[in-house]
Amino acid sequence: MSSIKLLSFPLLIFLEIVRSMEIMEILELSQVSRRTLNYLNLARISVETVHVVNGIVDKITIFNKSCTERKFQIEFLKTPQPVVGQMKVNNISIDVCGKNTTQQIINCNSNQFGYGLVHILTHMDKIFYRMEYSIGIELSTLNAMRGVLCHSIFRKCDYVQIRGRKETLSNEDCKYLLEKTQPTTGITIFSKLSPDFDYKKFSKNSTTQIHFQILHFSRLRVPNLGKMPLEDLKALDSEIANLGNHQFKEVDINDFLHHWIEGNNKKLRRLKLDGFKEAPDWDILLKDIVYTEWNPKERGRYYKSKYTDEVETIDCENGRDFRNKDGQLATVVHHLQFLDFLIWNDSFPK
Ligand SMILES: *[C@@H]1O[C@H](CO)[C@@H](O)[C@H](O)[C@H]1NC(C)=O
Ligand SMILES: *[C@@H]1O[C@H](CO)[C@@H](O)[C@H](O)[C@H]1NC(C)=O
Ligand SMILES: *[C@@H]1O[C@H](CO)[C@@H](O)[C@H](O)[C@H]1NC(C)=O
Ligand SMILES: *[C@@H]1O[C@H](CO)[C@@H](O)[C@H](O)[C@H]1NC(C)=O
Ligand SMILES: *[C@@H]1O[C@H](CO)[C@@H](O)[C@H](O)[C@H]1NC(C)=O
Repeated sequence: MSSIKLLSFPLLIFLEIVRSMEIMEILELSQVSRRTLNYLNLARISVETVHVVNGIVDKITIFNKSCTERKFQIEFLKTPQPVVGQMKVNNISIDVCGKNTTQQIINCNSNQFGYGLVHILTHMDKIFYRMEYSIGIELSTLNAMRGVLCHSIFRKCDYVQIRGRKETLSNEDCKYLLEKTQPTTGITIFSKLSPDFDYKKFSKNSTTQIHFQILHFSRLRVPNLGKMPLEDLKALDSEIANLGNHQFKEVDINDFLHHWIEGNNKKLRRLKLDGFKEAPDWDILLKDIVYTEWNPKERGRYYKSKYTDEVETIDCENGRDFRNKDGQLATVVHHLQFLDFLIWNDSFPK
């Protein structure tokens, strides 16, 4: 069907048609004219989160809701391929070196990654209704990415991954990345943290407020936490924190639990700590805390935790239960090499 014909349909019919299209077809239609792009904007087509990663591979991917099936991908190939066409996005042209409609993949050359990324994301943001995206940045590419990251489209992302397990994240680079991306939901930091890393510093002047801290993100995952002080753990303002390679021992966690019982860390739903290959010393961990073993009449056996997309189920049969001063129920449970502190919103989750 030609696009001219499409635009001659009443708007409602046009909307029905485009909503049933594959993402690649929608993208192609959007390039036909300014008018088709405007019509697509009116159609309020929604997509699940768009994922951007760079590093070993540079790509933009759209998955389905459960994140198990890839719906669309643009990959920027490291080995240059002959150009076979162009893609016109955000009023500029990007060379295309391959397209597969069965797989819903478009290939471009990686020399167009930074420039292409800005214009493709800006273009997609015009097509897709309330587009959300997450970005994973390889720390070793940061210097090359600086010019690109200044673009305002990056401030629309909701989730950031700082990648590169062998790299070390400095305060300056962390501050820079968080300022440029301003993630709303959360961050994951896979890289190591510099020894002087500021976990909770917060700077403020009369006109702007700069969050230079990681402890306020709703979702926080830091597998290489390093020597974060207990005081900073107590300042945690996350809902779900997944922390690894930390220095906290049973005595520190006991201190933290008392802090929670006193009515602090109100947003917290889950604190997951690694480093417990052996079961913890429960006497130290729960010192001066009145707890009970699991009572099936009080709460369900399984706790369900949704980080971003995937839901994790934790068996709390062997958990120890207690309440904070407001009567909020919590469980501490040991599983594999983890110690999980879980706060029940619904005592009998479906
Ligand atoms: C995502 O795709 C997988 C594989 O095709 C499918 O099993 C799953 O139900 C889909 N999830 C959603 C939420 O559409
Ligand atoms: C698109 O780019 C062309 C050529 O660079 C320019 O003349 C035109 O004004 C641009 N249109 C818009 C809507 O930005
Ligand atoms: C697209 O991918 C499918 C599945 O891998 C393959 O069979 C087909 O040959 C590809 N088409 C083109 C034009 O490369
Ligand atoms: C506050 O910080 C912003 C960003 O760093 C800067 O542009 C602005 O001039 C500062 N304002 C004052 C009053 O210092
Ligand atoms: C907590 O439970 C209430 C009532 O069951 C529900 O409305 C709310 O969305 C839940 N909050 C979270 C964070 O799951």
